[in-house]
Amino acid sequence: MSRLKNQWVLITGASSGFGAAAARAFGAAGANVLLGARRVDRLEEVAVEARQAGAPAAHVHALDVASTASVEKFAAWTRTHTARLDVLINNAGGAKGFDTVAQGKDEDWEFMMQTNVLGVLRMTRALLPLLTGNPGSSILNIGSIAGRTAYEGGSAYCAAKAGELQITRALRLELSGTGVRVATIDPGFAETEFSLVRFKGDEARAKKVYEGMFPLTAEDVAETLVWVASRPAHVCIDELVIKPTDQAAIHKVFRRT
Ligand SMILES: NC(=O)c1ccc[n+]([C@@H]2O[C@H](COP(=O)([O-])OP(=O)(O)OC[C@H]3O[C@@H](n4cnc5c(N)ncnc54)[C@H](OP(=O)(O)O)[C@@H]3O)[C@@H](O)[C@H]2O)c1
Repeated sequence: MSRLKNQWVLITGASSGFGAAAARAFGAAGANVLLGARRVDRLEEVAVEARQAGAPAAHVHALDVASTASVEKFAAWTRTHTARLDVLINNAGGAKGFDTVAQGKDEDWEFMMQTNVLGVLRMTRALLPLLTGNPGSSILNIGSIAGRTAYEGGSAYCAAKAGELQITRALRLELSGTGVRVATIDPGFAETEFSLVRFKGDEARAKKVYEGMFPLTAEDVAETLVWVASRPAHVCIDELVIKPTDQAAIHKVFRRT
């Protein structure tokens, strides 16, 4: 973990779930964190927690990864804090709706493509200059088991995360020789605000997803991100799938009645 001490870690989607837990976990490992999301009030709370955990510095700035102008502003703000990045975590994203293709809504599809696909491309393009001059730095993209196996009602989300997986693979080839490591971390069911966002605030429906089983927690994923980022510089964890023990496969979830 000491490898992360005083390193600079940028996390998108840090206002809740995996991103917020990662801010605390990297803070506890002694890293400086730069946090972005649309809900700045929530980011401020997470920054306090990251500093309490041990981050020497924790700064926040509004970020909408669906907007190139917002991403460019965020990158310019990043440069006011550091000329080099050690870890870029492209985490902002999620699912909206659970409709079949026949019933799908344009606004839901657009949210999923804008955040999970174009957001990763925009953020990476904007921040790459701070990584390529720093061999041993890492780009950690948050994918999903949905990018590897399709399910009914998941067409656009599965497509978006499959897109994230292929962006990760292409980027690793493009960056060969620079010393920059590129990874995808692909979780299964994890209880965060993910299902609440997917079901548009319907708490009962969101809770039902995890009924009778033990899902991953945000902390489980954050711990994994810290582990991946703290491998020696010559080690790249290309692709990591992490699922709850109760989820043997995307369609096979063990539930206690
Ligand atoms: N939970 C799961 O079961 C699961 C499984 C596999 C993969 N994932 C992926 O893990 C990532 C994190 O999800 P989570 O589970 O932690 O869910 P979450 O609690 O809903 O967190 C999503 C984060 O993304 C941010 N975000 C959404 N749209 C954004 C935008 N346009 N610009 C900037 N930030 C944006 C949200 O912040 P604001 O709303 O404040 O902008 C929030 O901080 C996502 O990419 C998700 O697809 C989740």
